[in-house]
Amino acid sequence: MKAGSTSRRIARPDRSDPHQPLLDIAAAFLRERAGRAGLTVADEIEGLSRARLRTLSARKEPAVAFLDPALARGAAATADLVGAVAALRGRLIWRRPEAAALGWRVAGRVAWAEIVGPAAPVPSDRLRLGLHLQGPRTLYPWHAHAAEELYVTLGGIAWWGRSGDWAARPDPPGAIRRHAADEAHAIETRPDPLLALYVWWGAGAAAGAEGYRLHDPATEGFPERPA
Ligand SMILES: [Fe+2]
Repeated sequence: MKAGSTSRRIARPDRSDPHQPLLDIAAAFLRERAGRAGLTVADEIEGLSRARLRTLSARKEPAVAFLDPALARGAAATADLVGAVAALRGRLIWRRPEAAALGWRVAGRVAWAEIVGPAAPVPSDRLRLGLHLQGPRTLYPWHAHAAEELYVTLGGIAWWGRSGDWAARPDPPGAIRRHAADEAHAIETRPDPLLALYVWWGAGAAAGAEGYRLHDPATEGFPERPA
């Protein structure tokens, strides 16, 4: 360890952990492609405590029906990540968004499988890493949260909004999005479903729903999404 560098913890990967291949591939992908944020997050992933795993119970989530179509819509850039997700599929614990204001809007259309986090199979209070699954023709509404965030599109195509503006073109598999703490963002799918890897880090990562809020685009002057 370099003099003055005390933030990076050294941990030995647990090869018996079925989540390890996805974590290794995600760390390498983000370190190579996601700029300074990617370096920070890759260090966090590689420093995760090996005191694990938690066993959690799953319940049926209807949005999981979109997983196979999303996995089938990957690309060369995400082939390794998609393969690692497919290998883990029997262990993923999908949950619906529980915030009351969000839940009814995306009921049956959005599900999350958190892999690393305060209540995830791989425990961490510094990092959340998981999968975001969204059915076709679904708007995940404008929202913001205290944690900084990276998204990697793994399969499918979606339109992304950020700070009130919609991107002119949709993101293909391999695209990376970074959202600052408390920055408003939204996701809209059209014919395709979306499977994305998300990472939350920074001071708000542990806060979860407490640091999460929905925006009202009408009162905040956000434009309609492009046709
Ligand atoms: Fe977000």
